[in-house]
Amino acid sequence: MKLLTSKPGWRVESDALVIGSGVAGLTTALNLRSLGKKVLIITKSNIDEGSTKWAQGGIAAALGPGDTPEEHMKDTLIAGAGLCDQNAVEILVNKGPSAIEKLISWGAQFDVTAEGGIALTREGGHKRNRIIHAGGDATGAEVSRALLAAVKDDPGIQIFEHAIAIDLLKNPDGSAAGVTLHIIGEGSRDGVGVALAGAVVIATGGIGQVYSQSTNPAVSTGDGVALALRAGAKISDIEFIQFHPTVLWRDNASLGQQPLISEAVRGEGAFLVNDIGEKFMENAHPLKDLAPRDIVTKEIVKEMVRRNISHVWLDATKIADFPKRFPTIYQSCLENGIDPTRQQIPVAPASHYASGGIRTNLQGESNIKGLYACGESACTGAHGANRLASNSLLEGLVFGSLIAQDIASKLPTEIEYLSDDQIDGYLDQQTPTLLLDSSIKITLQLAMTQGASVLRSEKSLQETLRIINSLQIHSSKNPNISNWETTNLFLLAKTIVLAALERKESRGSHWREDYPATTEDFHLHLNQILQREEWKFEREAIQ
Ligand code: FAD
Ligand code: SIN
Repeated sequence: MKLLTSKPGWRVESDALVIGSGVAGLTTALNLRSLGKKVLIITKSNIDEGSTKWAQGGIAAALGPGDTPEEHMKDTLIAGAGLCDQNAVEILVNKGPSAIEKLISWGAQFDVTAEGGIALTREGGHKRNRIIHAGGDATGAEVSRALLAAVKDDPGIQIFEHAIAIDLLKNPDGSAAGVTLHIIGEGSRDGVGVALAGAVVIATGGIGQVYSQSTNPAVSTGDGVALALRAGAKISDIEFIQFHPTVLWRDNASLGQQPLISEAVRGEGAFLVNDIGEKFMENAHPLKDLAPRDIVTKEIVKEMVRRNISHVWLDATKIADFPKRFPTIYQSCLENGIDPTRQQIPVAPASHYASGGIRTNLQGESNIKGLYACGESACTGAHGANRLASNSLLEGLVFGSLIAQDIASKLPTEIEYLSDDQIDGYLDQQTPTLLLDSSIKITLQLAMTQGASVLRSEKSLQETLRIINSLQIHSSKNPNISNWETTNLFLLAKTIVLAALERKESRGSHWREDYPATTEDFHLHLNQILQREEWKFEREAIQ
């Protein structure tokens, strides 16, 4: 299957193609450069767009006195609710500290204590202070700034902005050969073309825009995961959509990206209350307000149902110096008429993070040779059924380096790029073509929020699936960015719902009203592969 596009009119070649300019893409590109490879980064909007720059709480790593990677691993495995691949987690936590050192060597600056040591805070699921941060609550902006400066400094990295990857191209042996893409450019590179490379790295980030309310920015339409799905890559654990418990509640009708209130605010002493001031997390979990994210989210939803309220409140009024410690959050609260130094903040869960994605091995390679996935679009197995807070930026840093090493070790000295005739032949073979009209986007997002969010059931999921299927008639003959993105959202919504229907248990961030227990039968990864327009399931043992 492929998206409807016009015929490619130009071509460009590189050693490695990186799709996306968040922490995952930029780290992979910089590591490839240190191994002497020429890189092309394509990114669909301005180069700094994506979730990375919005990250608040920080990056988790065993850097504090007395902390160890083993302790970090234990907390990651508990949060992952039995579905983490232990070997992936070992890599994440053991390589975490050196990945952060490398980030600092690229110029990132983190907050320090009065004594000059690195400042560490706490977030949900961590049994100790382990999160480094920058600018108080502007960690992502600093990571993005530092990585972008390093990338822009390197003449071996070419960057195309406003360049949207559309579909994968394959070599005659089935390995990845590049992508079709569309650039809003000028001169010879305008409109649809092809970017050819010896290896392709998908680093397109999250899929939050599948839901009507998300912490993710507008670019998070899961294009890379949908592209991989259409190309025959395995998509794993995609039912585990993490809903962040404390997203600023404005009203139920708010659509799109919503302001996040970092878990670090609870790490610094804030607590949740209901409409009559009860601290409902007190008896819900031994870690109380700092329980793993899925547990806090479920308790909030239960409380909203029990008390018939549309949101709960976060009381941060006792945090000394809130405006200095959390300047971004303070500002966004003020813009929404809340002064968090005096008032409780209305909060409710919203979609935040895809714990699953393109299934990869421990070098970040998918089941398609030469096609890699890094960061939020990947499923390395490190997050299981629920990612531990602040392990995401870390994953991009750690696996970006491993992917670069794997690519560099496998690239031939002379890459044989596809000829124009081979490209035409390959694209002609790819049927059917699909393109849906962007007017269906809101209906799709609302259906997902209604039936496939925190609490799901056979009934709610089947109704969402019925709506999704009914939208397929709205096809379009007009290839453009919003139609391509909407078609990607459509494919991902269906993939999520089918996986959520298939997993007949509750675990991590997948909560089934009709199957409330966690069962041994589902102690496995659910992989999905698209074959001739049918979604096929494969069950994979936990490593
Ligand atoms: P992104 O940073 O989202 O980058 C994706 C890139 O791909 C973008 O450049 C985008 O434009 C590009 N792209 C997308 N589609 C295409 C296409 N078709 N063609 C070309 N380019 C494309 N995690 C933590 O560890 N700690 C935190 O404190 C934290 N806080 C968060 C706060 C918020 C508000 C949000 C939204 C997330 C937070 N996360 C946090 C999660 C974390 O920020 C993300 O998971 C992480 O930044 C993802 O990085 P990435 O490089 O995979 O994707
Ligand atoms: C937050 O700051 O609460 C978000 C952290 C994360 O998603 O890891």
